[in-house]
Amino acid sequence: MVRLLVTNRVGVTIEVAAQPGISMMENIRELDDSVDAICGGLCSCATCHVYIEPSWWDRLSERGYEELMMLRDLESFDPERSRLSCQIEVTDAHDGIALTVGPEE
Ligand code: FES
Repeated sequence: MVRLLVTNRVGVTIEVAAQPGISMMENIRELDDSVDAICGGLCSCATCHVYIEPSWWDRLSERGYEELMMLRDLESFDPERSRLSCQIEVTDAHDGIALTVGPEE
């Protein structure tokens, strides 16, 4: 089991039993006050924005150019912590990871 600790848009932290092999976005989009993920994971909407602390980044896939371009258009972009959750595939290495859903824009 891969546990994700997800803090939603109203500040409530929920432990999610995530399914590896699919994206973080797909694992968290059905939660209350979570990501909207309007484009369905095509890296074209940025409504799946989450913050992940830098200490976890060596266990994540790299932030790609297109992802970075989408993130940089957000007012809430944090260069140190912002990711698009649709661009991260959950693996066993993510057990215990904490993420915070970005604000609505
Ligand atoms: S779901 Fe649209 S960019 Fe991630």
